[in-house]
Parts: sequence; C-alpha cells; structure tokens
Amino acid sequence: MSSSSTIHFYLAAATLFFAALFHGPSPSHAQLSPTFYDRTCPQVTKIIRDVIYKELRTDIRIAASLNRLHFHDCFVNGCDGSLLLDNSPTIDSEKQSLGNNNSVRGFDVVDRMKSQLEKVCPGVVSCADILTIASQISVTLSGGPSWTNLLGRRDGLTASRALADENLPSPFDSLELLKQRFTKVGLNGDVDLVALSGAHTFGKARCLGFAHRLFNFSGQGAPDPTLNKSFLKKLQKICPQGGNGSVITDLDVTTPNAFDNAYFTNLKIGKGLLETDQILLSAPGADTADIVKKFSKNTFAFFEAFVLSMIRMGNLSVLTGNQGEIRLNCRVVNGPSTLSDDNLVSSI
Ligand code: HEM
Ligand SMILES: *[C@@H]1O[C@H](CO)[C@@H](O)[C@H](O)[C@H]1NC(C)=O
Ligand SMILES: *[C@@H]1O[C@H](CO)[C@@H](O)[C@H](O)[C@H]1NC(C)=O
Ligand SMILES: *[C@@H]1O[C@H](CO)[C@@H](O)[C@H](O)[C@H]1NC(C)=O
Ligand SMILES: *[C@@H]1O[C@H](CO)[C@@H](O)[C@H](O)[C@H]1NC(C)=O
Repeated sequence: MSSSSTIHFYLAAATLFFAALFHGPSPSHAQLSPTFYDRTCPQVTKIIRDVIYKELRTDIRIAASLNRLHFHDCFVNGCDGSLLLDNSPTIDSEKQSLGNNNSVRGFDVVDRMKSQLEKVCPGVVSCADILTIASQISVTLSGGPSWTNLLGRRDGLTASRALADENLPSPFDSLELLKQRFTKVGLNGDVDLVALSGAHTFGKARCLGFAHRLFNFSGQGAPDPTLNKSFLKKLQKICPQGGNGSVITDLDVTTPNAFDNAYFTNLKIGKGLLETDQILLSAPGADTADIVKKFSKNTFAFFEAFVLSMIRMGNLSVLTGNQGEIRLNCRVVNGPSTLSDDNLVSSI
C-alpha cells in the first residue's frame, strides 16, 4: 500500500494508544501498549518477521495459517496463548477441538519464533503476543495493511477444548449464529464480522467445509443457488461426491495468496467458498450486505476496518500486569522447575 495510507494506519493506532493513556490505566489492570517491549526486547518484531519471511519461501500459505492462529486463540478464553498448549494431564488441548483438529497449522513455526526470542530476550515475550505480532506481519507481508500492535499480553495457565468447540465459528453456521458468536466474545456482528471474514482473502479450506453446497444443498437435490456456475463446476471437480474431504483449495479463487479485497469482489459474483462467506452478502435481508458491497468497491475502507477489528479482536480478555505468566515453551505451562530463585525462596 502507499506510504500515505500506511501513515494513516500508524496515526489511527497512535490515536487509540493516546485515548487509552488519557483514560488512565489502573495499576491492577494494566493496558496493552505499543511500546511494551521497546526496552526489554526491541528485536521482537524483527525476529518474528525473519522467521515468517524465511518460511514463506517454501510455504506461502503460512501467512494465512498464522493469521488464523491469532483468531482461534482470541475467541477461546481471550488472547492468552491457550490455543498453543498441547495435551497434558492438566490440559485438554484446544488443538483437538472440532474447528482446530487437522485444520489449524503453523505451531512449529511459532515454536521457532519462541526459541529465537528465548535466546535473545529470555522470559520476556509472551506466546499470546507472538501470535498477535505474527498475525499482523503475515497480513502486511501478503500485501495487506500495516499497523502498530498493542502488546503486553500474558499467557494463560489453562486451555479449554470444550470452550473451543462451543465458541469457534463453523462453516455451517447461519448468519444469526455467526453474529451471536462474535457478540458473545465482545465483537460486533456487523463490521467486525464482515471485516474479519475478509481474512479469507488468503489461505485454504478443506472440501468437508463446503462440499455440502456442491450437489445436494439442504436436501434440495441441487447445488447452493448462490454459487457462481463456473466456480461450482470447478469445485465439483476438486471435491467430487464421496471424495476425500481433506483435499484443500483456495479460499480466494481470484488472488489466493494476496491480502486484498478480492474476497469481497468474489462474493459479488457468487464466488465465496464457504457458505458462511457467501451469506454475508446473499442471505435474505442480511444487514451485512451493504458492508460487503462497500469493501468490494473500496480496498482502503476494508483495510481501515480490518485494522480496527484486528485491534479489537487482539484486545479480547487479555491477561496483563502480573496475571498469567510468560511461558518459556508455548506448548506447556511453566512448571515448578521454571520458577526463579526468588519464587522458590518465597514459596518455601
Ligand atoms: C466468521 C466466521 C468464520 C468461519 C465460519 C471460518 C471458517 C473457516 C474455515 C472452515 C476454514 C478452513 C479450515 C479447514 O478447512 O481446515 C477457515 C480458514 C481460514 N480462516 Fe476462517 N472462519 C471465520 C472467521 C475467520 C476470521 C475472523 C479470521 C481471521 C481474522 C479467519 C482467518 C482464516 C484464515 C486466514 C484461514 C486460512 C488458514 C490456512 O490456510 O491455514 N477466519 N476459516
Ligand atoms: C483429531 O484427528 C486425529 C487424526 O485424524 C484423530 O485420530 C482424532 O480422533 C481427532 N480428535 C478428535 C477429538 O476428533
Ligand atoms: C486425502 O487428501 C489428503 C490431502 O490431500 C491426503 O493427505 C490424504 O492422504 C488423502 N486421503 C486419502 C484416503 O486419499
Ligand atoms: C460468474 O463468474 C464470471 C466470471 O468468472 C462472471 O462473469 C459472472 O458474472 C459470474 N456470474 C454471476 C451470476 O455472478
Ligand atoms: C482494550 O480493552 C480495554 C479494557 O480491557 C479498554 O479499556 C480499551 O479501550 C480497549 N482498547 C481497544 C483499542 O479496543
């Protein structure tokens, strides 16, 4: 994007920051801050960017995958890195939940970011913040907007597969249910829902999430009538009846790897891949349709809204101050052996 629009996003983020300052953070509930690691880990952004940049050379999809990790983290118990925890005697991992199992990816890449960061600034950068930063850099490197991350999240001590099953949107949800899911976590069911769904401008999805649209939609013996005919033919070849539901295809058929507004221009010609994409425009009486139309005509309006919604999403139920911990390994909560000497002394 042009340098003037980039500046605009920095200004927008700065405005939010100063608004937060004048609101007066109470010490017990510290606020996120754009300068959080300036003294303790000034290299944090560069380290994360370098890992993504290198990974993109062999896996262009990783940008989308990292962006999705932040979303699936924030929608379950807030942005607390809970998604990254593996199964253990005390953790029922969210990775095995309905929306995540065999679907979310990029955990090894997050591990590489964390281990690099532990070498340079040990015990400083939370796994939750790594997801926030990686998500933004992935969008920016893919041609989307740039913005300033609000940082200072701490990592949670728990995960909940049940809550992940309950909260994560499914590609079979109605528009009403999508709206409910967004409002339940503290986002809104119109601009946040539409702008953040625009993340489906990159990345891939498995046949099992949209195959129900292709042959016998809602038991009507015909495909989803909102699907573009040529797009339908293409998808029927990729996902034949009785075929392998794990085969993947691009969410954005027009510019699969670029972060742009093609997701919205696709919806205008019946080329939304998921039913939950197309209904934002095509559900009868959808109040989201006007927002889709606006973003399809104006990339800048989409980028501006997307940045604000990403900041709002990144703000959901964050742990700050001395809540939670800074995990040393994103896959496990810190054990007693990771307590500092001070903690050991005071716990005796
Ligand atoms: C509105 C409700 C949403 C639904 C129903 C939904 C559903 C899905 C589904 C079914 C997939 C494909 C998963 C698979 O087949 O394995 C997917 C992929 C993806 N979603 Fe969403 N999603 C939603 C919102 C979001 C939001 C808010 C974001 C980010 C801000 C997002 C970012 C992504 C990305 C980037 C991918 C591609 C990931 C990859 O290629 O690894 N989605 N989504
Ligand atoms: C997750 O996927 C694996 C591999 O396909 C499968 O064995 C396992 O049963 C799945 N877990 C759940 C909870 O569905
Ligand atoms: C289904 O497709 C996935 C992804 O292409 C592949 O890894 C898997 O081996 C396939 N399974 C079968 C039974 O063909
Ligand atoms: C289907 O897609 C083509 C472009 O591939 C477009 O020209 C046509 O208008 C679309 N049909 C509908 C009904 O939107
Ligand atoms: C973030 O959340 C806090 C409360 O937790 C609120 O005071 C602040 O205004 C929020 N910031 C943004 C950008 O939504």
